[in-house]
Amino acid sequence: MCGIAGYIGYREAYPIVVNGLKRLEYRGYDSAGIMMYDGKKMHLSKTKGKVSDLELITEKETERKHGTIGIGHTRWATHGVPNDTNSHPHFSQSGDLVLVHNGIIENYDTIKKELISRGYTFKSDTDTEVLINLIEEVKKKENCKLGKAVQLALTQVVGAYAIAVFDITKPNEIVVARLGSPIAIGVGKDNKEFFIASDTSPFIEFTKKAIYLEDGELAIIKKDKEIKVRQIKDDKLINADIQKLQLSLEQIEKGGYEHFMLKEIHEQPRAIVDTYRGRMLPDEGVIKMAGIDDNMSKFLNADRIIIVACGTSWHAGLVGEYLFEDMARIPVEVEYASEFRYRNPIITSKDVVIAISQSGETADTLAAIKLAKSKGAFVFGVCNVVGSSIARETHAGAYTHAGPEIGVASTKAFTTQITVLSLIALKLAKEKGSLSTSAFQAYLQTMQLIPGQIEKLLEIDEHVKSIAAVYKNAKNCLYLGRGYNFPVALEGALKLKEISYIHAEGYPAAEMKHGPIALIDENMPIFVIATNKGHYEKVVSNIQEIKSRSGKIIAVVTEGDTTVKEIADHVIEIPETEEAFTPLLTTIPFQLLSYHIAVMLDKNVDQPRNLAKSVTVE
Ligand code: AGP
Repeated sequence: MCGIAGYIGYREAYPIVVNGLKRLEYRGYDSAGIMMYDGKKMHLSKTKGKVSDLELITEKETERKHGTIGIGHTRWATHGVPNDTNSHPHFSQSGDLVLVHNGIIENYDTIKKELISRGYTFKSDTDTEVLINLIEEVKKKENCKLGKAVQLALTQVVGAYAIAVFDITKPNEIVVARLGSPIAIGVGKDNKEFFIASDTSPFIEFTKKAIYLEDGELAIIKKDKEIKVRQIKDDKLINADIQKLQLSLEQIEKGGYEHFMLKEIHEQPRAIVDTYRGRMLPDEGVIKMAGIDDNMSKFLNADRIIIVACGTSWHAGLVGEYLFEDMARIPVEVEYASEFRYRNPIITSKDVVIAISQSGETADTLAAIKLAKSKGAFVFGVCNVVGSSIARETHAGAYTHAGPEIGVASTKAFTTQITVLSLIALKLAKEKGSLSTSAFQAYLQTMQLIPGQIEKLLEIDEHVKSIAAVYKNAKNCLYLGRGYNFPVALEGALKLKEISYIHAEGYPAAEMKHGPIALIDENMPIFVIATNKGHYEKVVSNIQEIKSRSGKIIAVVTEGDTTVKEIADHVIEIPETEEAFTPLLTTIPFQLLSYHIAVMLDKNVDQPRNLAKSVTVE
């Protein structure tokens, strides 16, 4: 994980790098640092804590902030606890070279021992300090320039990295490289300035032109010069593709909301429309998706679909399982990417693998894709971040158009992933004839109502807030749902744990009897999804069982429900829709509930402890 930001050009670099790091804090926020070069000297400032803590230490020392070259880092600790010493940037032993790094150098211990035997000493516990000293050692030994030294050093390294390196003896360039961790280079007008960052958000107000470095590539960035990109292994020069960015500054700001998470919850109606716009055409009775159309035979002839993902994206994948099996009658398996990749799974060229990822950078999902490809499977990506590693690694795909999701807790990513999966399932069902034309048409009409229904549902905020106030001090919570809403129960529980730190578990409602029922007493809030479709009566029976054991019931029901209203302690109503689309609605109250509980408990909603938005380590 970790975020990297850098600048080389004619402007003061400090505000660009520091503001950039703030936008990248979703990637990690346990320590932060910056190296500024003022034309003569390098100034290093780093600290445990957030970028705002870094600003505090540089506040009064203007000399630390001056210069037109800077590289900075916001950290999510892997090797070495979060403290000032382990924070990046890291210097080489001579003090000439300085490095920021996102990723893990797996063979750092072996390299470190070798370097120690050559007289190197280390201040930190990080793999990063090992890497910068390896670069220094190679540079000395080969008597070469920084770019070459970085390239040669990286050939000795096992692991993942995105790095930016500066050398005070050649202070007109920054060298960057990547393998497994993302890095983008913003290209300023006439090559007069360049921006370096883990994603393009840090430089969006300065340039709309960017190069996304590919795995195994290294770039030498010099002011007033064309960027030179080459392959690390075979030294081949690459014609770097300069892309036009669509991202806007407005998209990555809070827009008047107190937290990104709340903004993103409220963006869902728009995000869902953006995700189906131009794809779902109810008047023509079609769904157009180039990635599916171009590969239709692969989907239709597939023995099965395997969905791989992590966290919330895995929950969306579970909804996908219900959608594909229910509508398109294709067998589906949903796998945690981290288990799948290490399980020696049976995959054949008749399998279609769908990888779901908001960030498009999740290390385990990326590795699962590579494994599936190596076994001959066709791999389709469902990603939110355009140009991300997963989007590029998959054979074809469909973007969710949620826009940047900055709050660590996924909200709009989940509902837009379900939207894409619904479109694919419907499209395949139509093509296979497993859904009648009228049923297909009815689904499309119903889907069109969802954004407006969410808009209306968001008006229950005060009601949900009052429920949050009652249960905010709960120690444990259960979330129950069946069928399409079982994954929503898992997602509801995940939302609560990750931002409020309250222990919560999601279960299929019927499984309650096989264990969790033992936990139920008058102190246990149980959130139950009991919409009028699917297994309504069965869920009502489960609610009765909870009631008989004095559990507190908070039920999500369909508007007009009377049965559950009589039994439950609180009800939250959602509008009527097709059963298959209920997750798009039932998840909204749980998002709001978790949000309000976290705010009431004074937790850091957007940056919960120990988490990072983009999990680029396995
Ligand atoms: C969800 O709120 C979490 N932030 C987390 O579970 C996340 O969904 C998971 O890390 C997968 O991320 P991805 O979608 O970017 O691959």
